[in-house]
Amino acid sequence: MKRNRIAWEAASEKYVVEHEEVLDQARKESSLVECELELLRPLLAASPAVVHLQSGNGLDDLALAAEGARSVVGVDFSAVAATAAQRRADELGVNCRYVVAALPGAPLQDGCADLVYTGKGALIWMPDLNAWAADVARLVRPGGHLFVHEAHPMVPLWTWDEDAPRIRPDRGYFERSHVNDSYPGNGAVEWQATLGEIITAVLGAGLELLHVAEHAEPFWRWDGLDAAAWRGQLPNTFTLLARKRS
Ligand SMILES: C[S@@+](CC[C@H](N)C(=O)[O-])C[C@H]1O[C@@H](n2cnc3c(N)ncnc32)[C@H](O)[C@@H]1O
Repeated sequence: MKRNRIAWEAASEKYVVEHEEVLDQARKESSLVECELELLRPLLAASPAVVHLQSGNGLDDLALAAEGARSVVGVDFSAVAATAAQRRADELGVNCRYVVAALPGAPLQDGCADLVYTGKGALIWMPDLNAWAADVARLVRPGGHLFVHEAHPMVPLWTWDEDAPRIRPDRGYFERSHVNDSYPGNGAVEWQATLGEIITAVLGAGLELLHVAEHAEPFWRWDGLDAAAWRGQLPNTFTLLARKRS
């Protein structure tokens, strides 16, 4: 975890350096994509208190607030990311608060969240998904929801070739981990779990599954980056919605 934290503190400096650009981006467009909004709109209509686990640059928090969240608490172990996100939220006058903490084990009250939101490169940093799911279940109030929009577990297998989709011979769907060689670089270890294991962890924490869908479109087309594996033939993301029984 220490190595990953160092890698993320370094990677998050980008949000400090690009403060004005990110602020501008937040003003102009929502970072929430349609497959998220379809599921989130009915929940956000009730003005929920949201907890965003692994909140990163915080752009999603601003978008969640714009769509109706009455408050967002972001939790991330990168002080650099949390401080940059807090500065942006404060400058925009949005009700977001950031807590620097390693997960699982968010230092927040049991049942404080109507909605726990997470994803976009979050679960791959959790070696123990059962512990992660138990922490989520603790934070969500009875009747509250967990929403995840995450990279599909098949993604580590796809090459970034532009001409045709290919499978990396050095990766396996059933591997436990691999070393990240794209972003944030620095040799950080990414954990792997199958889609079945992710769903089983959520169910094992006592949450009721309402929706799981696989999607072709990735959420990581930085700077116009393109790969044949992202053009519709293969799964690149999934959305999951679960509820804590009342
Ligand atoms: C790819 S980012 C995604 C974050 C966010 N969804 C976004 O779009 O900016 C992953 C985040 O997870 C955080 N992270 C990784 N491992 C963590 C851990 N064990 N506890 C808390 N935060 C962690 C990193 O600091 C980073 O901000």
